[in-house]
Amino acid sequence: MKKIRLRVNGTWRELIVDAGTVLLEVLREDLRLTGAKQSCDRKGQCGACTVVVNGKAARSCLTRMADLEDADVITVEGLGTPDNPHLIQEAFVLSGAIQCGFCTPGMIMAAKALLDANPNPTVGDIKQALRRNLCRCTGYVKIIEAVQLAGRFLRGEATPEAVRPTAAQGVMGVPHPRPSAMAKACGTAYFTADYPIRGALELAVLRSSLPHARIVSIDASVAEKMPGVAGVLTAADIKGTNVLKYLVADRPVLCKDKVRYIGDPILAVAADTRENAEKALSKVQVKLEPLPTLSDPETALTADALPLHADLPNLCYDQPQIKGDAEKAMGDSAAVVAARFKTQINHQAPLEPEATVAYWEKGEAGGEDQLVIIGRSINIHFHLGMLQSALGWENMRYIEAFSGGQFGIKIDIISEGIAGAAAIHFKRPVRYIPGIAESMLMTSKRHAFDMQVKLAADAKGNLTAYCNDFIVDNGAYYSIGHVVAYRALLMLSGSYHIPNVSARGRLVYTNNPWGSAARGAGPPQINFALECAMDMLSEKLGMDPFEFRLQNFLKPGQSKSTGRVVKEWPLPELMEAMRPNYQRAVKEAAAGSSGKLKRGVGLGTGSFGIGGPGDASVAAVELDSDGGISVYAAAADPGEGNDSMLTQLTAEFMGIPLDRVRLHTRDTGNTAASGPAAGSRVTYMIGNALINALEQLKAAMQETGAKTAQELEAAGKPKRYVGRKKNEEVGPLDPKTGQGPSFESQVHAVQMVELEVDTETGKVKILKMTTAVDAGPVINPLNLTGQLEGGMDMGVGFALREEYVAGKTKDWVTFKFPTIRDSFDMEVIIRETPRPKGPLGSTGVGEMCMVPTAPAVINAIRNATGVWVYDLPATPEKIKAALAAA
Ligand code: FES
Ligand code: FES
Repeated sequence: MKKIRLRVNGTWRELIVDAGTVLLEVLREDLRLTGAKQSCDRKGQCGACTVVVNGKAARSCLTRMADLEDADVITVEGLGTPDNPHLIQEAFVLSGAIQCGFCTPGMIMAAKALLDANPNPTVGDIKQALRRNLCRCTGYVKIIEAVQLAGRFLRGEATPEAVRPTAAQGVMGVPHPRPSAMAKACGTAYFTADYPIRGALELAVLRSSLPHARIVSIDASVAEKMPGVAGVLTAADIKGTNVLKYLVADRPVLCKDKVRYIGDPILAVAADTRENAEKALSKVQVKLEPLPTLSDPETALTADALPLHADLPNLCYDQPQIKGDAEKAMGDSAAVVAARFKTQINHQAPLEPEATVAYWEKGEAGGEDQLVIIGRSINIHFHLGMLQSALGWENMRYIEAFSGGQFGIKIDIISEGIAGAAAIHFKRPVRYIPGIAESMLMTSKRHAFDMQVKLAADAKGNLTAYCNDFIVDNGAYYSIGHVVAYRALLMLSGSYHIPNVSARGRLVYTNNPWGSAARGAGPPQINFALECAMDMLSEKLGMDPFEFRLQNFLKPGQSKSTGRVVKEWPLPELMEAMRPNYQRAVKEAAAGSSGKLKRGVGLGTGSFGIGGPGDASVAAVELDSDGGISVYAAAADPGEGNDSMLTQLTAEFMGIPLDRVRLHTRDTGNTAASGPAAGSRVTYMIGNALINALEQLKAAMQETGAKTAQELEAAGKPKRYVGRKKNEEVGPLDPKTGQGPSFESQVHAVQMVELEVDTETGKVKILKMTTAVDAGPVINPLNLTGQLEGGMDMGVGFALREEYVAGKTKDWVTFKFPTIRDSFDMEVIIRETPRPKGPLGSTGVGEMCMVPTAPAVINAIRNATGVWVYDLPATPEKIKAALAAA
């Protein structure tokens, strides 16, 4: 051990540490400065732990305490506080650079080191300085803008006061900072792992290294006697059903007899420290007997394949969709194209690792203690019910911590089940804080699609027929399973009028990682096939892909593949808004190609449904004693800006200042069950429930003339009102024809990609992406553009780089996480057609932004090189192979 003296945020500290201790441990665990985050298992890959050491940005996970004698360390907490923020923190807040905020402290500290040395950096300087800081939410656009704005503040060219929107500018459509942004910028927002619990047990979990095996025996006798160990938890210790049932009761909290994918949890060791728990875990002996692996849907559907779950068929969903007579129409068509498209299993890649803390709150008057779970749920009431039944404990509460992104991954229970089970079994508080490698193993993934497609048109270029026979790899557990295939069918025909459709969607269990929600959940995959086929067909017809799309967009009164007749359909206006950009891009691509570098332009469109059949939501509001309004709705905000949406809608509708709106959204103890923050539904569904509640409150206030809770109650009216939103249509698609109810609202987008392909290496450089979008009247422009920019970046990763390979993808390097160096120019064009049923006319946008991206990228590669890549991701190897074959 060694005594080290160093200065942290201006205060001298003396610490006695082990030789190998790193600064991040000391900051977070000894000094309780949790602003510095950890994403990458201390591999130096994420930059979330960045602080300033002796004037330079340093990754604190790699900085040994032994090297810090007399060092000067500044963390994000040392820069400023929410009451007195530093100008860089102000700039990040005002630029909209903070979504989930998990990367933010590291970004701000990297920016601080840069701006101290170079107060007027170029974009290139910023990219160089922040090259080691990852962000999943923003596409880095607003982060670069934030550093530029901070530079202007620091150089005295602008002030936060001059940039900050004023009350006089109004509420709707004004870029007011998010309610939680400043806390995230100052490191005072608590993410799950930031909660200390004195005396809590820490968990380490043994997970299967085989995709399919029988558990023959478990011997934990040595582990149980090791220092600090409280015990070992197996399936036999769980008092409830041990089943985390979302739609189908198939996923255990801990596996009992069998493991079904690489990562399935077998047991947990609980100890006084994570280190002791891990040491003991390494001594547990588990004997697994391998079983035949269902490596893909084809294998799982063979007649002699073992059923993955004893009482369930491997084919777990099979739904046709028939509109008109596609076979006949194909035969009568002037041009037909056919291809097989595949998409990969992919990780949603939130920057924050999965984590849960669980503790006991004393029951009132000697009553039973309550188990409190703190985690990253996006559906706290539903997850609470799942946990109560799986763990056999009723008296439980769920609190949503700030969450470092989720992108669908938190639609289901992840680490909460094991943490809760351990807290009940050991009757102790528990912290389960796994690293990113284990988080990748335990979480659901984006489903892989395999699609056989035919698309036809007549001689005038009118679409006549579309066939798509697709199989979805559901992996080992159902989760939301068929919802993904169902959503793909609901949005199968995209933005187009196709009179004849024949499709079939199947969902199959395999021994791959379990699939679940992932930004878009079905439409990004199915739209990839349709939009590439659109380019193939336009080429065959000799038509420009821009005009071909414009000609074939649905018109009000025409119907989608589900039979749904559309009303407002603003795609043509979006396409026309894109036209000048497209014309410029085509010219520049033609002029810019030279030698081995070929430039291309690609288009993609999408119409994304929101608020599906049967969807319902609820929100409550209460008039406060000062005339402010408290909102009670379990509307999770893992980074999209839902807090802003609720606040701005309330302030706009009631005509009160933003700071008089008080949100209660994170605790099952005081919120209405508003449904998941998924499917882009929060603005449309919860926003509508909120407006409904506010209408009731406003009516009561107008009737009585009351301005405060006391006045309203004195006039004989309640101060609290519950609002509801329920979609009129209910029920599934017709099992034979796939015709039936669909989404109540739609968001539309046209995207254009400009890129350059190095035909020698197969490498693709995205030069620019433009998105034209219509999501109704804008509530907060920074949040809207932030979603679009992040979505474009994620869509490009899906198209070109990212893939989750079980057992191989273990960190952010093997995942090929996009860095600021991969970031590219983006432009957003906004149209605001009011939605008749939307809250103040609006609808959601969070997922739409990556639905057209992958096909736009692949179409641009074709445009540049003349080759098609049919299976994602379009890696340099695949592009080179396609070029060689051509
Ligand atoms: S935790 Fe330090 S770089 Fe990732
Ligand atoms: S805001 Fe950067 S990771 Fe979420």
